[in-house]
Amino acid sequence: MKKVLYPGSFDPFTNGHLDLVERASRLFDQVLVAVAINLEKNPMFSLEEREEIIRRSCSHLHNVEVVAFRGLLVDAIEIFEAQAILRGLRAFSDFEYELQMALMNRSLRNNCETVFMMPSADNSYVSSRMVKQIACFGGRFDHCVPPPAAAALQRRIAEMEAEKSL
Ligand code: PNS
Repeated sequence: MKKVLYPGSFDPFTNGHLDLVERASRLFDQVLVAVAINLEKNPMFSLEEREEIIRRSCSHLHNVEVVAFRGLLVDAIEIFEAQAILRGLRAFSDFEYELQMALMNRSLRNNCETVFMMPSADNSYVSSRMVKQIACFGGRFDHCVPPPAAAALQRRIAEMEAEKSL
């Protein structure tokens, strides 16, 4: 059984992420979307919220599971018994960081393979960072994220507005 682990912050999960998961679900027997518990980052959504958004967004895919991981990615692929790491490449600018990460992971664990996939051109400009920025400034983001992520963003923005007016 070929199992691939797709790690990321997914804060929030975008159409670009979903595009990649859908492609991977056709290639691999199982896709584990692994949400990173990164204590250094201050995410907009809690781990549980990010997991729930992904679960709902991928509910049409029977071979996709959502998990969380803390610590090193090379340990996570061992714990979850995955054969490879999946990462997305949107543009050439992603390549340098991704290459470095793939080679570092291979230096930490022999035969640790990273598989790269490209989202469709329509999704190649989408990033979680930009979506959050647009949402915070009242712009339109519903074309960039799956409906569960759009609803969560709307809720969070409304909460932030309510806090500001207190
Ligand atoms: O969505 P992101 O923020 O690009 O995902 C980055 C992520 C979570 C995949 C990366 O930071 C990671 O692998 N973190 C786990 C810690 C680790 O193994 N670091 C060494 C990788 S070279």
